[in-house]
Amino acid sequence: MCGIVGYVGPRSDDTALNVVMEGLTRLEYRGYDSAGVALVNGNGVEWEKRAGKLANLRNALDEAPLHASATAIGHTRWATHGGPTDLNAHPHLGGTTDKLAVVHNGIIENFHSLKAELLEAGVQFRSETDTEVAAQMLARAYDVTGDLYAAMTSVVNRLEGAFTLLAVHADAPDRVVAARRNSPLVVGLGEGENFLGSDVAAFIGYTRNAVELGQDQIVVITPDSVEITDFDGNPAQGKAYEVTWDAAAAEKGGYDTFMEKEIHDQPHAVGDTLLGRTAPDGSLLLDEMSISEDVLRQIDRITIIACGTSAYAGMVAKYAIEHWTRIPVEVALAHEFRYCDPIVNDRTLIVSISQSGETMDTLMAVRHARALGARTLSICNTHGSTIPRESDAVLYTHAGPEIAVASTKAFLAQITACYILGLYLAQLRGGSFAEDARTVMGQLAEMPEKIATLLGTMDRVKEIAGFMADTRSVLFLGRNVGYPVAMEGALKLKELAYIHAEGFAAGELKHGPIALIEPGQPVFIIVPGPDTPHDLHKKVVSNIQEIRARGARTIVIAEEGDTDVIPFADEVIWVPQAPPLLEPLLTVVPLQVFALYLSTAKGLDVDQPRNLAKSVTVE
Ligand code: M6R
Repeated sequence: MCGIVGYVGPRSDDTALNVVMEGLTRLEYRGYDSAGVALVNGNGVEWEKRAGKLANLRNALDEAPLHASATAIGHTRWATHGGPTDLNAHPHLGGTTDKLAVVHNGIIENFHSLKAELLEAGVQFRSETDTEVAAQMLARAYDVTGDLYAAMTSVVNRLEGAFTLLAVHADAPDRVVAARRNSPLVVGLGEGENFLGSDVAAFIGYTRNAVELGQDQIVVITPDSVEITDFDGNPAQGKAYEVTWDAAAAEKGGYDTFMEKEIHDQPHAVGDTLLGRTAPDGSLLLDEMSISEDVLRQIDRITIIACGTSAYAGMVAKYAIEHWTRIPVEVALAHEFRYCDPIVNDRTLIVSISQSGETMDTLMAVRHARALGARTLSICNTHGSTIPRESDAVLYTHAGPEIAVASTKAFLAQITACYILGLYLAQLRGGSFAEDARTVMGQLAEMPEKIATLLGTMDRVKEIAGFMADTRSVLFLGRNVGYPVAMEGALKLKELAYIHAEGFAAGELKHGPIALIEPGQPVFIIVPGPDTPHDLHKKVVSNIQEIRARGARTIVIAEEGDTDVIPFADEVIWVPQAPPLLEPLLTVVPLQVFALYLSTAKGLDVDQPRNLAKSVTVE
C-alpha cells in the first residue's frame, strides 16, 4: 500500500518533479486516496499535497507551480492512520522550520507512545498520521546531528512495524535518505542521477538497473552515489538485478484500461511462465529450485499460503498437486495461518503464492513457517520482492507487471506455476504420475493458444454485462477445480462492480445456498468437461436444472461441444476443450471479462476500485 518515489538528478530544472510525477503515475495502483510531492531547491523545501487521485495533485501543481529542483520525493497514499485528507496526505514536514520532509509506506506500530513523548516535549502535530511522528523525530534528530543520514540512523531503531521512509532536508539539497523495514524499496541506478521507488515501475522509464534494499537497511542517494548501510551504520549490500521488462509493459498498450490489457496479456503470461521449464528430453527443469531433491522427496505435507485471488490459485493447485503427487495439500489464508497453531515441521513444504511478493499477511506467514522449521517456496511475479527473498526457493511467474488492482494475468500465471511445481514433484518422487508429467506439459503448452482463441469470442459476455448493469447480486457455482474459479469470479465482481457476489461449490447448493434462488437470480455455472472423472459433469448439469426450476437465470460456462447444457442454459459461454485439471486457465477468463464490462457499464473505475490497493502491505 502506498507508492513512494525519490529522485536526485544533475539539473536544476523540472526534471525532479517530472520524474517523480511520472513515477507516481506508474505507482498509483498501490494507493490512490491522496498524493503529494516535496522538492528541495534554493527556496528550501517546497511541497504540494492533495486528497483524492493524482489528478488533483497535478491540477494543484498546474495552478501553483513549484520552483525548479533536482531533488524530489513523492507519495501516493492508501490511508491507514488518519483519513484521506489534504492534511494527512504525504509528505509530512518535521520541526517548525519546514526544512525536512518525509514520505512513508507502512505502519509505525508504536506511534502512539512515540507521539505521546513528542507531545510531552512540546511538538505540535499537523496531521493524524503515524508518519508525522517519524518526520518530527527526524527533525529533532537533525537538530542534534546536523546530518540527515545520522538523524535517520538514530530514529529508525526506535520505530516498530513496517516502514519505508524517504527524507529530504533543505540543507542537503543533493540527497535523499531512505530506510526500509518490512516494506519494499528499490534503488534505480542512472548516470548522474539515481532513483528510489516502492517498485521498479517508479523509474522503469529511465533505467532497468535496480538494487533491491534488504531488511533494515538505509540508503543515501546523490546524483553520483548510492551508499547502503544497516540501521547501525555498518556498510551493507543491496541485491543488484536488471529488470527484464520495459516501460511499455507497464502501459495500457491501446486498451482503455490496464485490466483489459492484462486480460489480453494472459496467453503470454501462461506461455512465458512455461518457458524454459522443460529439458530437451521433455522432463521438467526447475533451475530456481534451491531446495535439494532429497529434501523434496521427504516432504510429507504441503501447505499453500496466500490471500485473495492468489489463494484461489492455491485452491486450484490443491486438486492438481494432490492428484499428481499424492502429497496432502492444504490451502490456508495467510492471515489465518499464523494464528491457528499450524501443524508444520521440517517435512512440510510451505508454498506461498503472491503476485506482489509484498503482501504482509503472506510474508508474516512465511516467516512463521520458517521459524517452525518448514521449507518455504515462493511462487511470485515480482522479482526481488520480499517474500521470495525470504524463502528457501522461488518459482517466478512471468506475467509481467500487473497494474490493475484486480488480479487477472497473475492468477493464470500462478496456476501455471503451481502445475509446474506439482508435475516437478511428481517427476522427482516417482509414483504413478511421474511419466505423465511430459504429457501434461505438452497439454499446458497448448493452453496459451486456447486462451487467445477464447479471448476472441468475448463479445457476447460484454453484451451480457451491458444488460446486467442494474443487477444487485450474482451467484457463481463450480465443482472440483471449477469451485475456486467460482470464488474468483465472485471476487472479481465484488471488487470491480461493488455488487453482492458469492461463489459456491455446486455440491453445497442443496445444503443452504439454493434458498437464495428466486426468479431472475443470475447464476454463473462453471461446468466441468464431459471427461471429468466421477460423473461430475452430469452432477453439475443436474445442479443447473435444479436452480433453473426455481427461476434462476443460468449463464453456463461449458466446453465446446457439450450439448448437454443447452436445454438448461439461458446463456452458454463456450470455452475450448481442455484436460479437466487445466480447465481453470480457460473458465475464469469469461468471468474476468464479465466483471470488467459490468464495472464499465456501471461507469466505475476498473483499474482503481474504491477502498482497495494493489499490494496489501499492512496487516
Ligand atoms: O500480491 P498478492 O498476490 O499477495 O495479493 C493477494 C491479494 O491481495 C490479491 O490477490 C487481491 O485479492 C486482488 N485484489 C484480487 O484481484
